[in-house]
Amino acid sequence: MVPLLLLIALATLATAVVLRHFLPLLRNPGLPKGSFGWLLIGETIAFLRPHPSNTTGGFVHDRIARYGTVFKSHLFGAPTVVSCDEELNHFVLHNEERLFQCSYPGPIRTILGDSSALVVTGERHRQIRAMFLALVASTGLKPAYVASVSESARSVVASWRGRDTVTFCEEARKVRSTSFCRPLQQFPYKVIMEQVLGLSPDEPVARRILEEYQTFMKGVISFPLTIPGTPFARGMKARKRISDTMEAFIEERKKNGSSKQGVFLDVLLANKDLSHDDKVAFLLDSLLAGHETTSVLLSILIYFLAKSPNIVEQLKREHESIRSSKGKEEPLTPEDYRKMDYTQRVVSEALRCGNIVKLVHRKALQDISFKGYVIPAGWKVLPILGAVHLDPSHHVDPEQFNPCRWEGLNQTNSKSFTPFGGGQRLCPGSEIVKVEAAFFLHYLVLNYRWKLDGEDVPMLHQYVEFKRGLPIQLEPL
Ligand code: HEM
Repeated sequence: MVPLLLLIALATLATAVVLRHFLPLLRNPGLPKGSFGWLLIGETIAFLRPHPSNTTGGFVHDRIARYGTVFKSHLFGAPTVVSCDEELNHFVLHNEERLFQCSYPGPIRTILGDSSALVVTGERHRQIRAMFLALVASTGLKPAYVASVSESARSVVASWRGRDTVTFCEEARKVRSTSFCRPLQQFPYKVIMEQVLGLSPDEPVARRILEEYQTFMKGVISFPLTIPGTPFARGMKARKRISDTMEAFIEERKKNGSSKQGVFLDVLLANKDLSHDDKVAFLLDSLLAGHETTSVLLSILIYFLAKSPNIVEQLKREHESIRSSKGKEEPLTPEDYRKMDYTQRVVSEALRCGNIVKLVHRKALQDISFKGYVIPAGWKVLPILGAVHLDPSHHVDPEQFNPCRWEGLNQTNSKSFTPFGGGQRLCPGSEIVKVEAAFFLHYLVLNYRWKLDGEDVPMLHQYVEFKRGLPIQLEPL
């Protein structure tokens, strides 16, 4: 009797799994071509297989060849429409909250927290985003801010003096499957810490947060198992400790006031629309989003430039000309930044080839017809930003690092170039990043020659990793 009941239970479970997997296919005619892969896991494992960041990777490449730039699949546990099509990507990004909604997988939401800008939707998202826009407006291209970024870039590059080799992503060598570009993190971390909290990165609170951050990031990119001791569980704990440290810091600031003027924390604390949790989450987001992505961009610049001596020469000429009109130690100004035309093309090309954020996660809020396809309500929609960056019909020889392709073109906002996403969720940090990257290059090309210490490649997992840690041989000029 018991074996029979067990058999019936198993058969019911198996039928439920099969139906759950395939029913969405039967219910919805007019879907794009594609396949759902295996039961339970769908095609997620093949989709996540790492590949060089300046290629689309085998999975996307094969599907585009077989089905075209829009195809269906089963990813992250949900029926999915994958878009490598610039028009559909634009349509999805620009119809946020009307036809589509931001929808990151459960584990990412768990570790980022309920109040993270990437997780909240509707009115709450509008309020939190408004604070990010205010942060950007408070920096803008204001002389004092620009001078402080310049000083941070100068001091980080100067700290490498006397070293023959720098391994930019040191941690990648020690702990497999992490890519923390430590020597490069210092610079964006310094900028964001000073701007938001008015703290120097050497102060104990800032050091504590950075240490916890390493554990947190290992959690973000790990397999989402909440069992104690796993990197994911440790990451969640680290997030909680960062959040507690921030809270204590806020309380102290409320009591004692700030010793520095123009620190964004004071603007944040004065905001009556946001709850205490939202404010802590804002601080976390700005520190976390604000420096990991930027340090990856800097490492990608170092990598591609190491392979392109002619481009470095041209960059150097631009920066020598800017420096020739000012003193050796004088910080860069907004006017200097505006003269960095070629540098901006180099940065845009690194963003295109680096694909730091390969895709964004959305879901359809209602049935949608687009170019003859049906995207059913509730389905996941994945605009693959990187696939459009590498589409030869939009970018000639897309795998080549060639800044000249940007001459006379719009480098900020076109349908075929969206490294910072678009629409209501366009990255608020894009301008901050570009100034940091340009100033970093200024001090780098004027102070060093460099080459790769053996071959290494930026590999795209869900993030960019250099397998060997990007070791570089530096030669002071
Ligand atoms: C190279 C560096 C960076 C890249 C490639 C990048 C890319 C992106 C992308 C693609 C999105 C859109 C996500 C989506 O639509 O779901 C985004 C959102 C966001 N980014 Fe960045 N980002 C970078 C640097 C920064 C910096 C420096 C900050 C700090 C201020 C920042 C803060 C944010 C925030 C808060 C959001 C969420 C915005 C919202 O949902 O309204 N990012 N970023």
